[in-house]
Amino acid sequence: MNRAMTHQSQDSDLYTKLKIVLIGERGVGKTSILKRFTDDEFDSSRLTTIGVALKEKTVTWKRKSVKLEIYDTAGEERFRSLTPVFYRGTQGALIVFDVTDKYSFSKLDVWLNELNIFSTNPNIVRILVGNKIDKGERQVTVEECQKLAEQHQILYMETSAKTSSGVQQLFEVVVDKMLQTPGLWEKINSGRLKIGDRTPSCRPDWCNGMC
Ligand code: GTP
Ligand code: MG
Repeated sequence: MNRAMTHQSQDSDLYTKLKIVLIGERGVGKTSILKRFTDDEFDSSRLTTIGVALKEKTVTWKRKSVKLEIYDTAGEERFRSLTPVFYRGTQGALIVFDVTDKYSFSKLDVWLNELNIFSTNPNIVRILVGNKIDKGERQVTVEECQKLAEQHQILYMETSAKTSSGVQQLFEVVVDKMLQTPGLWEKINSGRLKIGDRTPSCRPDWCNGMC
């Protein structure tokens, strides 16, 4: 995988678009990981997400421009009523927990189950992400995390949105895996693009035309 994923501007030159969703308990750092990736910034204050926020970034993969549409969902239950709608057509999922918070690790089964129920792509690329590795007070060992990932046959990666450790690599890996999964995506061709299988039951008044 190329090391340099860079911004591009020309939509017309796009090779494809990919849809990624970030899920996990409240406060684990989903928004912070995304902010680090898209803006190379970190905010130490709480940034509670309400519903879903969309961020886009165009990256270069094997000298081709690929637009990422990244959906940052709320972890907090009361802000999640509509978020499963955004799983539909998703090609990549980052299931995030906080390595210093055992509770967020213990809830991973619930998040993985929800993803299985609502995602419509059987070949969706899933990565388990242990965040906040910069903090010294780890409550979950690397071995425990790897074991859970093995049980679910998914990849495990670690990040710190604060120091940026692992964040770029995380997105490089998910993009690489998605593009190497046959049938998961289609090339943009003569202006026509199919991203996964868009939801037939999508209600524009719910999703504001985003899903
Ligand atoms: P919800 O939107 O409520 O689901 O939370 P979230 O998962 O988006 O978490 P958010 O990014 O808002 O981060 C929660 C808190 O953790 C904030 O105070 C962040 O600054 C902090 N935080 C996030 N990532 C890291 C990290 O890698 N290291 C440290 N030390 N703090 C982090
Ligand atoms: Mg958030």
